[in-house]
Amino acid sequence: MRFPQAWLDELRERSDIVSVVSRYVHLTPKGGRYWGLCPFHGEKTASFSVNPQRQMYYCFGCHAGGSAITFVMEMEHLEFADAVKLLAEQNHMELPEMIAGREDAASRSEKERLYEANRQCARYFHSELWKKENAQILSYLYGRGLDDQTIRMFGLGSTPARSDGATQAMRALGFTDDELVRAGISVRRDGRVYDMFRQRAIFPIIDAQGRVLGFGGRALGDIKPKYLNTGDTPVFNKRLGVFAANLLKKQRGLKRVILVEGYMDVIALTQAGVPGVCATLGTALTIEQARMLKRYAPEIWVSYDGDAAGQKAILRALEIFDEENVKARVLVFPDGLDPDEYIRQRGPQAMDSLDPMDATTYRMKQEAQHHDLSTQEGRTAYAIACAKYLAKVKEPVELENYVKELMVATGFPRDVLLAQIGRTELLSQEQQRTYRHAARPLEEKLEGVDTETAAAERQLLLLLAEKRIEPGTVTADDFISEERRAMAQKLIDGMTPGAILEEIDDENERARAARLLEKDSGAGEEGQLRMAGDCLRILHRKRIEEKIAALQQELGHQTGEDKRRTLLKIQELTKERQTAGRKE
Ligand code: UTP
Ligand code: MN
Repeated sequence: MRFPQAWLDELRERSDIVSVVSRYVHLTPKGGRYWGLCPFHGEKTASFSVNPQRQMYYCFGCHAGGSAITFVMEMEHLEFADAVKLLAEQNHMELPEMIAGREDAASRSEKERLYEANRQCARYFHSELWKKENAQILSYLYGRGLDDQTIRMFGLGSTPARSDGATQAMRALGFTDDELVRAGISVRRDGRVYDMFRQRAIFPIIDAQGRVLGFGGRALGDIKPKYLNTGDTPVFNKRLGVFAANLLKKQRGLKRVILVEGYMDVIALTQAGVPGVCATLGTALTIEQARMLKRYAPEIWVSYDGDAAGQKAILRALEIFDEENVKARVLVFPDGLDPDEYIRQRGPQAMDSLDPMDATTYRMKQEAQHHDLSTQEGRTAYAIACAKYLAKVKEPVELENYVKELMVATGFPRDVLLAQIGRTELLSQEQQRTYRHAARPLEEKLEGVDTETAAAERQLLLLLAEKRIEPGTVTADDFISEERRAMAQKLIDGMTPGAILEEIDDENERARAARLLEKDSGAGEEGQLRMAGDCLRILHRKRIEEKIAALQQELGHQTGEDKRRTLLKIQELTKERQTAGRKE
């Protein structure tokens, strides 16, 4: 469901960023901005700035940046739509949804009913746990080392003795059989309705908003399936849910989230005092779950079982986190123990002795198992495989560490490995000449090296952000970089920098854009036109140079008349370039 654009624009206008942020951060005005202690990282001096004119915030320490809406998303751990709703409420704006069609309202209220049924059912299971006739289940949980406090914290429960106990109890609360079947609490068989869960310990699955989505039920002995989970229902989709999301939300300022495989792993680690533990629900990690998890901490540690299936799942999870630009590490528990077994056998302090591996190291370690490093062939294949992973490592110092390891493991010299990785710019001039052909793609080079045009474009963007140049003086077509051209168009269309940032999902990209849009153009009073003119000239000249370069390329394969014509064009453009370079 999307909000109508006009309504969103009105919300943005009413939710002034300074007053929104002020609810959480004490702000002091200074130099056209407001300053405070950044709520996203611990600090003692204020490096968090809020710019009312641009409706954006930016932290010079941790590079967090965005709009009023993204601010609320981050602070309250909300999805976009929920943050918008919260702001609308605070501004006494009616939600456009409320005006929407009947069908929507009907399906919404059906969902509300199912949530309520689940909530009541969770309470029911929990109360059953303390009854004498269900003592077997309580002692099963005690036997697995859980104490009463933990059992209450997770709201664990027991199925009742009767095969339709839950169904009966929910009927008594006014839920229809249809509702109970749709919620996955009951099943219909031969026209009769029974409980879905029988003779199991119950683990309610609760989302970040505190709603009960469904249940996992653990059989007491070796009965199959060991865990029975609520199937997909209108309110539960195991690809989206995470076990213990409700507890994640309560733990502010987590340094990392630990992602484990099982219900019991979450509970055992939490009881041992480890914060930020959660699990996917019997499925491989999905992109939606990754997106949700990254809201809670800057890093995620993946800690699945050490068997072959687990290792594969770890590699896949790392890929998903990569796609979502989440920093991930792998926490391997020794001796093939799962987290629950480990903590019970070795005690809570044993957690401190575990050293999470960074994702690249883990991948290289895994890869090494698939190659015979005692042969030249194996070492070569290993180097090629690792080079693919290392191509993603941006920081030269980090890369250097991995390359050193790879040199030891494979015997290849540094320059050969860097060439294989595609990072020849880290080599000496002389070595670079040797590896010219393995050079980086052209556009990357342009972005990185050609700072004059990039600077001109950035300057123009700032002038647009400051609304200091008339529309028409600068157009989006003046921009060479796709990214900055798109940004220019949005500014010209009247979007605030904050709103532009809000549209960028990728965190690194948003930080980069925020850093750019936060600056002042530095054009003195009345100086804006001259500055714009200078920038436009630089871009114009750059365009001509690009054309010349393209023609020179063509020249290589041309002969006769064609060649003559191209040469002529180059001549003209060269003249034009000279005039373009001159100041008016
Ligand atoms: P495990 O078999 O590793 O579970 O499955 P576990 O938590 O260690 O089980 P215990 O310690 O024997 O109680 C990991 C997760 O996979 C899902 C559950 O979410 C479980 O926690 N699973 C497993 C199922 O959904 N169904 C099953 O039959 C088994
Ligand atoms: Mn286990």
